[in-house]
Amino acid sequence: MSFHVVILAAGQGTRMRSRLPKVLHPLAGTPLLTHVVNTAQTLNPSKIHVVYGHGGEHVRTALSALPVNWIEQAQQLGTGHAVVQAMSHVSDDAEVLVLYGDVPLIQPDTLRRLLNVTNGKSMALLTAHLEEPFGYGRIIRDASGNVIRIVEQKDASSEESNVNEINTGILAAHNGDLQRWLGRLDNQNAQQEYYLTDVIAMAAEEGMAINTTEPTSIEEILGVNNRVQLAQLERYYQKKQAERFLLEGVTLLDPARFDVRGHLDVGPDTVIDINTVFEGTVKIGSGVKIGPNTFIKNVTIGDDVEILANCVIEDAEIGAGCRVGPFARLRPQTTLAENVHVGNFVEIKKSDVAQGSKINHLSYVGDSTVGRDVNIGAGTITCNYDGAYKHKTVIGDRVFVGSDTQLVAPVRVGAGATIGAGTTVTKDVPEDVLVISRVPQRISTSWNRPKKTGERNDG
Ligand code: UD1
Ligand code: CA
Repeated sequence: MSFHVVILAAGQGTRMRSRLPKVLHPLAGTPLLTHVVNTAQTLNPSKIHVVYGHGGEHVRTALSALPVNWIEQAQQLGTGHAVVQAMSHVSDDAEVLVLYGDVPLIQPDTLRRLLNVTNGKSMALLTAHLEEPFGYGRIIRDASGNVIRIVEQKDASSEESNVNEINTGILAAHNGDLQRWLGRLDNQNAQQEYYLTDVIAMAAEEGMAINTTEPTSIEEILGVNNRVQLAQLERYYQKKQAERFLLEGVTLLDPARFDVRGHLDVGPDTVIDINTVFEGTVKIGSGVKIGPNTFIKNVTIGDDVEILANCVIEDAEIGAGCRVGPFARLRPQTTLAENVHVGNFVEIKKSDVAQGSKINHLSYVGDSTVGRDVNIGAGTITCNYDGAYKHKTVIGDRVFVGSDTQLVAPVRVGAGATIGAGTTVTKDVPEDVLVISRVPQRISTSWNRPKKTGERNDG
């Protein structure tokens, strides 16, 4: 028997007040719909179908990499009508799980439990008990506790409105059954929509068992209709991630001021200070210290590294024992070998810096290869761009670069060379020499500083 997932994502999402379709809004840096597809994939379905709406081509284009079958629902005539669009793509004997593109935090465990309570002769419904059930469809049971139908808020009597068991919308059933029921739907209701929920009464009338199960936590079934709800789910998600890292042996000085928007791996005894944002894929070793107000994206950080406050690091590799910052910027394709020091107001781009080298103050190093145990003085600049092309700077091992040096690329500095402060290096430098291009110092004893006479007022 095959198993298919149908994700409904055709709603307009008007309450987001956004040009971006709702399901493309990110939660923890990942579009809402992608969260749902990722979760669906953990269940190994034969296929995942996404029902998208009129004008939803933008969703399809933006998420074209997702391994799903896209199905257009040209007009949003209701959740039942949306599921009908997918039916012809699913074989008759298949089991179907219905999920929602705007309910991003549903968990695989909950869905597995739901699927476990369906069999050949039953269907399964995910329900929840809410203190404030207003707005949701209510689960109506008979005297023996069997589910007999679902009534939408807008169609509910005041007695039905008092029921606090709600329909999450998530259900599992056999496609043959769904097709039979969906074919009989009408839109004679308060919203004049074809309600998916009406199939429950049809199942009950046929004597089919309707099994229910509940999610582990209520956030799993919460939908995003506006940005308040999106922000609440974001906080919940971040809190859960923070707890996971704390339990894995990572110190977070304030779990509420720590955001992971992607995949983060952290070794034990790493200490992460406040207001740190991790994006993309980040791997951090053990015993690392990450200072406050730091942004780290697609970076690998070795053991015992110290990242001081206010650093921005993207697409870089940082070897064990390095010290970076405060206020350092490591741009894409930067690799620091072990025990490299990068200090304040240093920018490094597309460069490899070998073991033990130091770039401690106010420098720009771009398109460069820096050897081992090199010392780069304050205010050093690799002039890598001629206005049309980028050029390489190669600095050998043990080179000493004096402060305020410009290296006009392409240029190579041989191992062991010393560059005097203020030098502009325009030609290759041999090994072990001193190079200096400074204007000799001059002293004048006859020069007088201008003095104000009091007749003019220049401010
Ligand atoms: C639905 C349920 C309600 C449940 C609630 C849970 C129905 C009739 N009601 O109500 O019992 O408590 O969800 O949140 O199913 N969609 C489409 N095409 C459509 C209509 C909707 O793809 O034509 C999608 C929407 O994008 C959304 C989802 O289906 O993701 C739910 O639609 P919505 O209109 O929000 O249903 P509710 O009124 O909230
Ligand atoms: Ca809704």
